Amino acid sequence: MIVKTDSEREGMRAASRVVKAALDAAEKFVKPGVTTLEIDAIVEEVIRSYGAIPSSKGFEGYPNASCISVNEVVVHGIPSLRTVKDGDIVSVDITALLNGYQGDAARTFAVGNVAAEDLKLINAAEAAFFAGLEYAKAGNRVGDISSAVQLYSELNGYGVVRALTGHGIGHKMHEPPEVPNYGKKHTGAPLKNGMCICIEPMIPPGDWRLYVERHGWTVRSADRSNAAHYENTVIVTDGEPEILTL
Ligand code: MF3
Ligand code: CO
Ligand code: CO
Repeated sequence: MIVKTDSEREGMRAASRVVKAALDAAEKFVKPGVTTLEIDAIVEEVIRSYGAIPSSKGFEGYPNASCISVNEVVVHGIPSLRTVKDGDIVSVDITALLNGYQGDAARTFAVGNVAAEDLKLINAAEAAFFAGLEYAKAGNRVGDISSAVQLYSELNGYGVVRALTGHGIGHKMHEPPEVPNYGKKHTGAPLKNGMCICIEPMIPPGDWRLYVERHGWTVRSADRSNAAHYENTVIVTDGEPEILTL
């Protein structure tokens, strides 16, 4: 959506604050021995404590409040009885609906003693987001964000996922335009003042191809290497973008 009024802007901020609170609670909870279902339960509890709705639950049949993607699972990991172990990297992606507005954000958390290369990967996903964010300004185009994310990732020796993208957001979780993590400068939809978007690099170390479970949601890296995900809901303005889920 394009937020035109202060109350719309405040609506997006409030929904995003709920997402941020749920992410913070999840981060504290991600410890060796906890199951991903237990993390999901905390996420749902926090979201509902604000009177918000976990909008992933029931979205195209998705069963849970959060997507929890461990190690080689890139995105859309379904919470399960799998326990988190020392050395895992755990991505948590949360969408919440409050008063008709959606917020959406993801982080990858390191559990205990994580391999140096995985820590680098986690930082790269975050840095790729900020590389893209530099171009999130009215007058630019979506491809400016996309190409910056791609360039950052590839210059640092990583791949970027192509089959899944960032997106517009507002009353619905996914709205136009798509915000890919690869692309060309000066192409794609024009960015407008008030436009709400999610920029969400999904970074596998090399091969960007994905393996999607045939009868499920779970998306793995094709070569089974660990992947990181970093996402924020952002309002584009004529000046600095406003990050709502930080
Ligand atoms: N939060 C995801 C996104 O970033 C979408 C969640 S898919 C769902 O776009 F099925 F879990 F809802
Ligand atoms: Co998300
Ligand atoms: Co998203």
